Amino acid sequence: MCGIVGYIGKKQAAPILLDGLSKLEYRGYDSAGMAVYDGKQIQVQKAAGRLKVLDEQTHGGSTMPGTVGIGHTRWATHGAPSDSNAHPHYNQDKTIAVVHNGIIENYLKLRKKLQKKGFVFRSETDTEVVAMLLGYYYKGNRNSDDAGDPGDPGDPMEAIVKVMHRLEGSYALGIIFADHPDVVYSVRKDSPLIVGQNAEGSLIASDVPAVLKYTREVYFIQNEEIAVLKKDAISFYNIDGEEIEKEPKKIEWDINAAEKGGYEHFMLKEMYEQPKTVSDTLNPRIKDGRIVIEELGMSDDEIRALRKIHIVACGSAYHAGITGKYVFEGLARIPVEVDLASEFRYRDPIVEEGTLIIIISQSGETADSLAALREAKKRGALTLGIVNVVGSSIAREADRVMYTWAGPEIAVATTKAYSAQLIAEYLLAIKFALVRGKLSDEAAASMIKDLKAIPAQIQMLLANKEDIQRFANRYLAARDVFFIGRGIDHAISLEGSLKLKEISYIHSEAYAAGELKHGTISLIEEGTLVTAVVTQENLYKKVLSNIVEVRTRGAFVMAVTNEDNTEIEKTADYVVYIPKTNRFFANSLAIIPLQLFSYYVSVGKGLDVDKPRNLAKSVTVE
Ligand code: M6R
Repeated sequence: MCGIVGYIGKKQAAPILLDGLSKLEYRGYDSAGMAVYDGKQIQVQKAAGRLKVLDEQTHGGSTMPGTVGIGHTRWATHGAPSDSNAHPHYNQDKTIAVVHNGIIENYLKLRKKLQKKGFVFRSETDTEVVAMLLGYYYKGNRNSDDAGDPGDPGDPMEAIVKVMHRLEGSYALGIIFADHPDVVYSVRKDSPLIVGQNAEGSLIASDVPAVLKYTREVYFIQNEEIAVLKKDAISFYNIDGEEIEKEPKKIEWDINAAEKGGYEHFMLKEMYEQPKTVSDTLNPRIKDGRIVIEELGMSDDEIRALRKIHIVACGSAYHAGITGKYVFEGLARIPVEVDLASEFRYRDPIVEEGTLIIIISQSGETADSLAALREAKKRGALTLGIVNVVGSSIAREADRVMYTWAGPEIAVATTKAYSAQLIAEYLLAIKFALVRGKLSDEAAASMIKDLKAIPAQIQMLLANKEDIQRFANRYLAARDVFFIGRGIDHAISLEGSLKLKEISYIHSEAYAAGELKHGTISLIEEGTLVTAVVTQENLYKKVLSNIVEVRTRGAFVMAVTNEDNTEIEKTADYVVYIPKTNRFFANSLAIIPLQLFSYYVSVGKGLDVDKPRNLAKSVTVE
């Protein structure tokens, strides 16, 4: 989704803005732009395409002199990706410039009203109404019926507050006024926004990686708050324009975590970080051989009183939730429902007493997941966020938060954050099972041993990358790929399929293996690749029959299975073995060859692995 940055300080703004925007590229975008005050007026430069187009147009920012500015990467929602729709947007007389992340839901109504008053729009975007409306109020229009008096400018804060009262939807805004070149204003409602400062200036950004190089102390702007940045001071206000106090948070991330560090792509680097991510999420929660999840804040009685778990998430986090269903139900015998956040929020869900609602999210900013969390709270459930980004909206708003310590994840296709989400679920499930008397101490100890072995086992699987790359290279021209599995293996298949389609643009589908013959099998042709995940011993034979069914119809079958299941070589065409683990944890290992396969198909096709078309890292709009 869109990324915003802003700078005011002693240095030239444009190169800092370009650098900040490059750190937000992972969010997904199709155009970029900057506005810089040059001492006389606000200069805007913007272009459809990659950031390098803007970089080249401005010679690394050198053609835009000035020490105050805002920048933007746009992920198109209202209006096609084009130069004119790219941000920043001006007000009518080009004395105000605005960048925006979010959606203004009532923009059409506002646009029509402004058009009636003579405002002429230059783009199709929802954002431009913000710029025009700011201009309207700033020029002295005290209310919407006022004819306006251009000779009577209001103050920027007053105009911003008025605009905030008129806007519906979500927004993080960066705003500069030519009349007030010593200030950058920023405002937030339901879209992420942070601000920070160092000895040389003050910055705004949509996410931490954009400011990490300059400061580790950041302020998280909350809903309907305004930050006023000067080169040596930042002050905060509420929607009534009253000054408020805020405490900065220290960001502990390793700065190198947001750099490629010698890897060809972030995705490859992040896959290789999985052993560490798993250890970092696991180890602090195992003390003297026991699972201790302090942040859960639930007494044993409360855990025993749980009647239902509801897991709500989007994309890969939803797939982690489906694995969670098998693990929580299998181990702790608690009924689990899993919902897509975009469905949960509108389906009038039944939330009874004794329900724990778990929201899983890497970014902690996914609009649907955040809305689902709010809905869950409204319905009186206890909510737990399994979140990666510290201080994100879901982390702040959930009753409890369990962090997955994966560090910054930059590639759009999630790998290490997903792996960490699985670990968080395993820990919770074992804990719940123990407290509810469904698991003996000995069984739990053996499971903990298996969990501790996972990092080294992932390492081993990653070492097999060349073999998988060779195999992947045979499928660069594939039209369709199918993933099949039963039980937990179906959950792995869903994630494997999503990984492939999002970065290789090959159509793929995941099916519960037994369901294939109820329709989808008609799509299998000579040579179609079917990936069968076969890690659940009690289901070996069943999946084997499904493999035979598709092979009979011409499919080429790649099987991902346990190291003891060598029999499968008689049936499958290509086999990848995973080391021995507890059956509930198979997902953590089986997903590794599937991630590698997707990665190498994308590399082989010469695609933009880290920033696949049309996708955004953090989906902050509905
Ligand atoms: O930040 P979140 O975990 O809430 O994001 C959810 C999905 O948007 C995300 O998992 C998406 O599906 C990824 N691109 C998958 O690789």
